[in-house]
Amino acid sequence: MSGGAVKCSCIWAFKLSLFVSSSNVFFLNPQYGIVLDAGSSRTTVYVYEWPAEKENNTGVVSQTYKCNVKGPGISSYESSPGALAKPLDDCLNKVKERIPVHLHKNTSVYLGATAGMRLLRLQNESAANEVLASIQNYFRSQPFEFRGAQIITGPEEGVYGWITANYLMGNFLEVTWVHPYRKETMGALDLGGASTQISFIPEDPEEHFNSTLQVKLYGYNYNVYTHSYQCYGRDEAEKRLLALLFQKSNTSANVDNPCYPQNYNTALTMKYFFGSLCTQSLRPANYYPNQLVNFHGTGDPGLCQEMVSLLFNFTACRDREDCSFNGIHQPRAKGNFVAFSGFYYTINALNLSGHFSLDNFNSSMWFFCSQSWSQLQFMLPKFEEIYARSYCFSANFIYYLLVHGYNFNAETWPQIHFQKEVGNSSIAWSLGYMLSLTNMIPAEGKLIQLPLKPSLFAGLLVFLTATALLCLLFLVYLCIASHHRKNIPRVEHVFIAE
Ligand SMILES: *[C@@H]1O[C@H](CO)[C@@H](O)[C@H](O)[C@H]1NC(C)=O
Ligand SMILES: *[C@@H]1O[C@H](CO)[C@@H](O)[C@H](O)[C@H]1NC(C)=O
Ligand SMILES: *[C@@H]1O[C@H](CO)[C@@H](O)[C@H](O)[C@H]1NC(C)=O
Ligand SMILES: *[C@@H]1O[C@H](CO)[C@@H](O)[C@H](O)[C@H]1NC(C)=O
Ligand SMILES: *[C@@H]1O[C@H](CO)[C@@H](O)[C@H](O)[C@H]1NC(C)=O
Ligand SMILES: *[C@@H]1O[C@H](CO)[C@@H](O)[C@H](O)[C@H]1NC(C)=O
Ligand SMILES: *[C@@H]1O[C@H](CO)[C@@H](O)[C@H](O)[C@H]1NC(C)=O
Ligand SMILES: *[C@@H]1O[C@H](CO)[C@@H](O)[C@H](O)[C@H]1NC(C)=O
Ligand SMILES: *[C@@H]1O[C@H](CO)[C@@H](O)[C@H](O)[C@H]1NC(C)=O
Repeated sequence: MSGGAVKCSCIWAFKLSLFVSSSNVFFLNPQYGIVLDAGSSRTTVYVYEWPAEKENNTGVVSQTYKCNVKGPGISSYESSPGALAKPLDDCLNKVKERIPVHLHKNTSVYLGATAGMRLLRLQNESAANEVLASIQNYFRSQPFEFRGAQIITGPEEGVYGWITANYLMGNFLEVTWVHPYRKETMGALDLGGASTQISFIPEDPEEHFNSTLQVKLYGYNYNVYTHSYQCYGRDEAEKRLLALLFQKSNTSANVDNPCYPQNYNTALTMKYFFGSLCTQSLRPANYYPNQLVNFHGTGDPGLCQEMVSLLFNFTACRDREDCSFNGIHQPRAKGNFVAFSGFYYTINALNLSGHFSLDNFNSSMWFFCSQSWSQLQFMLPKFEEIYARSYCFSANFIYYLLVHGYNFNAETWPQIHFQKEVGNSSIAWSLGYMLSLTNMIPAEGKLIQLPLKPSLFAGLLVFLTATALLCLLFLVYLCIASHHRKNIPRVEHVFIAE
């Protein structure tokens, strides 16, 4: 073998390994995109980055920055939409520092609003439009290319979350040297403040043709079952619980709450829990928005679970097997799932992570719910009161939703992975939304383009090891040769000059 050939493969190996190890930081020509996830309880700004020349490849887009906008979600600004600008500005100023100035004009901004705004639009469409218009107006003074503020539908939210999760986990495209083949995808479970979504590919997609969405990605058709349950987000579900407790209580001034920690007391206005569209039907005849109601925590997990069960209607399913609750059709949940956002934050507060047994979850939940308020404050020092007091409720709600609603059991529960991000990219519908709107997940695949995916990576590793060995031999050869001859060009030199 000639020295030139060996040198060549060394250079190639070096380049490949450079690409493998630094594909996230070595963008010669990066592009950026910004998505504002306008949720019911808050707005989050995500900045994504990718190499422009690889935009159609899978797995190249990553999140480089995230900023939580101070204050509540945009739907809370219905009576003062102008006040949105200041907190948005604080985040956008930080975003501007993360994106090179010359690329600001070339960076698109998308705003997607979810269930909080869907509810506001149902309640008062002109108020919802004013909020969106004020955001539109705000972005007129920004250097970025604003691509519109939209209220996305529940099914869109579900599918974009599913796309994000599978994109980040590299499930869309498996490339071998010869044939591309289809990999298993993961189901996605998203728990927001006002709605919750379940999305997965059923066992027999044809049987569920009516309830699945056809998504064509990289040349493959996926029949994704998705459903979004309005008013089953964490915050709205808890308002419904408070409304039910109020309704069942004999006094309207003091109400026991078995889901709040023992000895926790708080006074809430009736508007706080009856003001929402989700609890409107439960409003008493004597509804005074500003009247205070004292809630007293009794920390009783058994009773909490019983009250949580009242948030679900199973009679509407009439014992049909392919039915979750409230009469909603759902094929049997199959395969692995990733549970993110509110699901993750709740199990994290219970000191759980990843996947674990259902028994483990139940006992952690009972332990957590049995703590008094003073013990809990000690255990969760970093958490704000409104979050800390509600984790027992959300844990019970998650348990009930997943086990009795979606029909996970002791056997299938460990297939749910509670996870909030992959690498540094959050699992959230926002990335899938941007990928779709920018056509970065082409409908028709021109498939093989050397995106480095795990199995290819394994093959590559063997190849790299082999070439590295050859390189070593070559270096030994150089060493020996340099004893005889000076000024042999070094490998690095050749690489840079090339
Ligand atoms: C990505 O795909 C779209 C549609 O297939 C195409 O128009 C575009 O040129 C592609 N971009 C790159 C960088 O290959
Ligand atoms: C940014 O520049 C690229 C390449 O010139 C172009 O394809 C893209 O549409 C531009 N994006 C915006 C938002 O102007
Ligand atoms: C709906 O919102 C508009 C604009 O904020 C407000 O003027 C109007 O009074 C609201 N209507 C109702 C029924 O609340
Ligand atoms: C699908 O929808 C059509 C029309 O809405 C209906 O006639 C049919 O029975 C449905 N099929 C299933 C399997 O639900
Ligand atoms: C309300 O009053 C009824 C009858 O007086 C009693 O049976 C019930 O236990 C009371 N409920 C609560 C929550 O105190
Ligand atoms: C449950 O759903 C059924 C059928 O839609 C309805 O008749 C019933 O009133 C509901 N029950 C409750 C408690 O909401
Ligand atoms: C959950 O744990 C509690 C306390 O250990 C126990 O009493 C209860 O039966 C468990 N529930 C289930 C469904 O396993
Ligand atoms: C979680 O673990 C930390 C550290 O071990 C501990 O301080 C905290 O009390 C635990 N919290 C719960 C809810 O068990
Ligand atoms: C995630 O971010 C941290 C801190 O910015 C960085 O050190 C790390 O390399 C990143 N990880 C990945 C997989 O990009």
